[in-house]
Amino acid sequence: MAEISNIKACVFDAYGTLFDVHAAAAACRDMLGDKADRLSAIWRQKQLEYTWLRSLMGAYEDFWRLTQDGLDYAMETVEIDDPHIRETLLGLYWELSAYEEVPTVLSQLQQMGLKTVILSNGSPDMLNAAVKSAGISDFLDGIHSVSDVGIFKPDPRVYQMTVDKLNIAPSEICFMSSNAWDAAGAAYFGYQVVWINRFGQTAERLPGKPQAILSSLHDLPALLK
Ligand code: LAC
Repeated sequence: MAEISNIKACVFDAYGTLFDVHAAAAACRDMLGDKADRLSAIWRQKQLEYTWLRSLMGAYEDFWRLTQDGLDYAMETVEIDDPHIRETLLGLYWELSAYEEVPTVLSQLQQMGLKTVILSNGSPDMLNAAVKSAGISDFLDGIHSVSDVGIFKPDPRVYQMTVDKLNIAPSEICFMSSNAWDAAGAAYFGYQVVWINRFGQTAERLPGKPQAILSSLHDLPALLK
């Protein structure tokens, strides 16, 4: 793995990287029964597909709308037709738990003099709510939402937005994402990238390679020392 050096900021994907996207369905396991995991997987997959497809179609809508559309698709697929379950799952999306190592790691990075920033497809209100509910506001120097550019990752305008906001070079950013396609997009753009492969996924066949792969954020501070 290539060395990561001359970093000024650590930039994080939000959903799946800092926040556990499957926590909502997990909290409703009593209502969802053995459909919980399948529903959650389809929900997430559709939410992401709609970001890519709407970007290609030139039909941007904010991530909250796509989160609802993905859930509606998933519920129909697993044959759950229950407005109460829908509202409960959507409500939980605003207070997803952070992975357990997140507060400590963010705080360590700040102590190392690095800026800590979120760069996410999420809408600003969704991100602010999740950050507050996870209790990590104090460990973040910024929250950048694609809503400022009106297109989703991995469009290069998204990664450029954070370069512009931080006023540093792309190569001075170390970007972390558990989404392999996002890691590829960011590396192809010019960030230094650590793929947080939380889910043991297969590497994407895409341009843009991560410089390092970790299974959680736990070892990130050591990697950047
Ligand atoms: C995000 C999605 C990709 O937070 O998880 O941007």
